[in-house]
Amino acid sequence: MNQDEMKKQAAEAALAYVEGGVVGVGTGSTVNHFIDYLAGIKGRIEGAVSSSEASTQRMRQHGINVIDLNAAGPLSLYVDGADESNHQLQLIKGGGGALTREKIVAAASAQFVCIADETKLVSCLGQFPLPVEVIPMARSYVGRELVKLGGNPVWRENFVTDNGNLILDVHNLEIMEPIKLENQINALAGVVTVGLFANRPADVLILGSQSGPRTLKAD
Ligand code: 5RP
Repeated sequence: MNQDEMKKQAAEAALAYVEGGVVGVGTGSTVNHFIDYLAGIKGRIEGAVSSSEASTQRMRQHGINVIDLNAAGPLSLYVDGADESNHQLQLIKGGGGALTREKIVAAASAQFVCIADETKLVSCLGQFPLPVEVIPMARSYVGRELVKLGGNPVWRENFVTDNGNLILDVHNLEIMEPIKLENQINALAGVVTVGLFANRPADVLILGSQSGPRTLKAD
């Protein structure tokens, strides 16, 4: 089974958490599979809150009702992928650049179900470069501050987020204290969002694997 088939397996398993109402929907290739499965039960939900223009477009193509978060109120369920997860279900996200809206929808949701293939589970976060969304004029300043924090920030060139901002991908971090680092980076002037989801980790992690979907809950 290849990586995409494992992502598909995790996405299908997440359907069991959908109980109707309005579902928060993330972004990425794993979530694209989830959206395709969600389309099959769209009559059972009121609609979905989207975390990106890409997911909005895919859901609309399937005829899923996309609802503005401001109109939806608190959500019971958010389903999204991740670039890395540790065993506490703290995540690195933002490989697709949708981290800010993803963090907002995750924060507004009672339960966050993360879907991924088993290669995303790590003992220590940081092998995957940590995405940081920045206001364009702050790019160099924030870059220098990230170097002081021990990272090697690389500007994701030719990429603009849905919010009109830039992404710095921070390499060479070994994230021993995810909550502390999330707070430190969040506190830098010009940072919109850091792709560390440690203060608000996932509640459930479904990993597609060679032996079928595996479900982990936070330690
Ligand atoms: C997008 C994300 C994605 O969830 C993350 O990049 C994982 O993507 P994929 O499901 O394609 O592996 O955070 O901003």
